[in-house]
Amino acid sequence: MDLYEHQAKQLFAEHGVPVGRRQLAATPQQARLSAEHLGGRVAIKAQVKTGGRGKAGGVKVASGPADAEDKARQILGMDIKGHTVHTVLVEEATAIAEEYYVSFLLDRANRTFLCIASAEGGVDIEQVAESDPDAVAKIPVNPLTGVDRAKALEIVTAARFPEDVRDASADVLVKLWEVFVGEDATLVEVNPLVKTASGEIVALDGKVTLDDNAAERHPQHAGFADTAAGDALEARAKEKGLNYVKLDGEVGVIGNGAGLVMSTLDVVAYAGEGFNGVKPANFLDIGGGASAEVMANGLDIILGDPAVKSVFVNVFGGITACDAVANGIVQALELLESRGESVDKPLVVRLDGNNAELGRSILTERAHAAVQQVDTMDGAAARAAELAAAR
Ligand SMILES: Nc1ncnc2c1ncn2[C@@H]1O[C@H](COP(=O)(O)OP(=O)(O)OP(=O)(O)O)[C@@H](O)[C@H]1O
Ligand SMILES: [Mg+2]
Repeated sequence: MDLYEHQAKQLFAEHGVPVGRRQLAATPQQARLSAEHLGGRVAIKAQVKTGGRGKAGGVKVASGPADAEDKARQILGMDIKGHTVHTVLVEEATAIAEEYYVSFLLDRANRTFLCIASAEGGVDIEQVAESDPDAVAKIPVNPLTGVDRAKALEIVTAARFPEDVRDASADVLVKLWEVFVGEDATLVEVNPLVKTASGEIVALDGKVTLDDNAAERHPQHAGFADTAAGDALEARAKEKGLNYVKLDGEVGVIGNGAGLVMSTLDVVAYAGEGFNGVKPANFLDIGGGASAEVMANGLDIILGDPAVKSVFVNVFGGITACDAVANGIVQALELLESRGESVDKPLVVRLDGNNAELGRSILTERAHAAVQQVDTMDGAAARAAELAAAR
């Protein structure tokens, strides 16, 4: 489970990581009151589970309560990479002297933990990593010994943190490691970790991913689960037992089997490069038995995402043959239309495998205006990307 910044900072505070005073606000009026409470100058920060909020205009500094209300009004309701902003974090504005970067993560390839750190943090860290990779230190962390003070000093030295902040930063790193291990996280990222004008080290941003497999060890984490409308789609999918993950792009993807869906995402992203860089909008695995109801639920969720411009249904018939899937699609369309939901986004369907011919002919016969068939995976991905780019 990915956490919002305000949730990550709650965990930071519980483990003694320095964070600014802050309050969550869901309306401009609340933001004004929070700014009054926090003493005037505040940062208004969109709470969405995606990076690059600052660059998208979702992080703004307000000069006082009235300005905080204004800025919150601008940011609330904003769409950032397909995520609607329902709440803002109102946080005391920090006078920033320097911005650093630090993260702990699971390094699956090397079967260990990894710390990534740089003295050149901030919203351009991705560019720094590309143009000056030496400025970004990658240091493996032995899970048995973890990050003690000595290890933390090794990290900040390798990352070329200025000497005057190494001690204080090392203390913060040890606490961030305690968050990582203590909360069973797979990612703890702070960008930026700042030195303030008065020389303190503060976590100004926080990104935490919790390991869902460890959820039973942390009953208190259940409170972090989304109930907000913004993630209504994920909640609804979960209710229906569907394996659904929302992504940032425009091409809705439905497939049967996790492996097929994953490779479909790759093929769509690749095809999208030729069409304005459109990308997959979601991961949705309808599993082995693609019944009409499951297909209807899947289509319903994907079509309900306003970011989706076209849908790619990619099915390889196995135990569930393609004719059953085709009937499922036909019934799903009828079901949706009987509920008064008009299906006008284009659906590109590729059927292959068991009884593919029969499945295709069922769709051809039904001749629904929204449905187009393409026989190859690459061809269908390109068509779906093209249609998304055209809308
Ligand atoms: N409380 C604050 N006071 C002053 N400036 C802030 C504050 N919080 C954030 N900023 C500034 O806004 C920038 C962007 O904020 P933040 O890093 O939280 O969002 P982001 O753009 O989502 O980050 P990322 O690039 O990691 O995705 C920070 O680098 C910092 O310069
Ligand atoms: Mg950041």
